[in-house]
Amino acid sequence: MASFRGRSIVSIRDMSQDDLIKVVCTTEDVKRGDLTGFLNGKTVATLFFEPSTRTRLSFESAVLKSGGSVFGIANPKASSQSKGESFADSIRTVSGYCDVLVIRHPVEGAARMASELTSIPVINAGDGANQHPTQTFLDLFTIKESFGRLDNLKIGMMGDLKYGRTVHSLANALAMFSNELVFISPPSLQMPGHILKELDDGNIRYRNIADLEEAGTLDLDILYVTRIQKERFGDPLEYKKVAGVYRVTQETIDALGKDIRVMHPLPRVDEIAEEVDTLPNAIYFTQAHNGIPTRQALLGLVTGGLE
Ligand code: CP
Repeated sequence: MASFRGRSIVSIRDMSQDDLIKVVCTTEDVKRGDLTGFLNGKTVATLFFEPSTRTRLSFESAVLKSGGSVFGIANPKASSQSKGESFADSIRTVSGYCDVLVIRHPVEGAARMASELTSIPVINAGDGANQHPTQTFLDLFTIKESFGRLDNLKIGMMGDLKYGRTVHSLANALAMFSNELVFISPPSLQMPGHILKELDDGNIRYRNIADLEEAGTLDLDILYVTRIQKERFGDPLEYKKVAGVYRVTQETIDALGKDIRVMHPLPRVDEIAEEVDTLPNAIYFTQAHNGIPTRQALLGLVTGGLE
């Protein structure tokens, strides 16, 4: 396993199975309260060029809880980008103000580009429809917390699998363990071919289906629901064709089986009815809250405050 110290976290594809286990185990230690003050004297910048609630605020909370300082851009219109400054110049400048850069950007590859412009660690907080690796780490931690393992699970991923970066990263990660994946989406929003090819190359079992009803026959352990990513559609009419195509209700849970766990990276629009929130099956708010110890662990590892 490569050391995390000084390392950028750009894509799950850059990670080994040992790396994933290291982050999950460190998150367990952080959540237990065994590790404190490991960001003392460190400064983290959060540069968000796309909207966020969970990722930005949980990163900021993670820094403060670990003894560090944090500042950032939440609204790019209030930054010098609105005066025409290039992304590259913003990165070159801000990387001199901090020890770690956390970046969300609508352009795929933006975090990779930033990591090549600076010597400090860059953490990808979501780049377009490509990857969202820190979401995947908290998803893995939540799965381990619920099931006690990361393998031998049957996981359905449902919704916008074409544009949903969380499911792209998560499919890459779950493929490193022995799991079976079921992709539930309208034909126009299927998992991209390059990810399916990676699964084929790794002999990972998966299938594509369109009907949520069919998922009821598959004995899933987890249903990972995603929002249709309205902002990524070039044509609003194409969005209208698929908006609201799936909705998880109490009836859905009954059909999927009483032990099913429902996850969602959030935000949700209407794809999970609020009546599901109070069922023991719903773990999506626990999942969101696990963003804090997960991001504490990641920041501790890349700064060398944790080993
Ligand atoms: N899951 C997630 O990335 O949420 P935000 O867009 O609110 O950060």
